[in-house]
Amino acid sequence: MNQSVLFVCLGNICRSPLAEAALREECAASGLNVVIDSAGTGDWHVGHAPDERAQAVATKNGVDIGHLRGRQVTTSDFHDFDYIIALDNQNLRDLTAMRPTNAAVKLSLLFDHIAGRAGEDVADPYYGDADGFDRTWAEVTEAARTIRLLLESG
Ligand code: 4NP
Repeated sequence: MNQSVLFVCLGNICRSPLAEAALREECAASGLNVVIDSAGTGDWHVGHAPDERAQAVATKNGVDIGHLRGRQVTTSDFHDFDYIIALDNQNLRDLTAMRPTNAAVKLSLLFDHIAGRAGEDVADPYYGDADGFDRTWAEVTEAARTIRLLLESG
């Protein structure tokens, strides 16, 4: 069965949809079949398309994310996904608190997949300007490469 990865941020309209898109691109480029999704710990943007600035940075990098819709992480996700990857430390704390004790899911922080940057947050670009989204794209793209290697070895 295909391996599966869920990216989780706060709103599921900025960082995690970009991480989802970056890993999808990375896996498609190397012919790796992986189930990839994203969700938010919060519920404010359930059913919403990604933030326009996130859509713009994705488009600029050749990926369309306009069809994605926000959803909130659920307890079932801990059983349905092999990996849940949090975008920042608060997301990771929230996920750790809701993780069922019998779930085998591997929970990690996105920056733990980038050498030398373990423990760092992907800064939330929501309250900043468009530059923040370029930075987010660069970070999630870099992580996607090593996550793809991890999936290929697993
Ligand atoms: P995200 O950014 O967690 O990267 O999707 C946010 C989007 C919306 C909100 C917070 C963060 N909000 O409070 O509505």
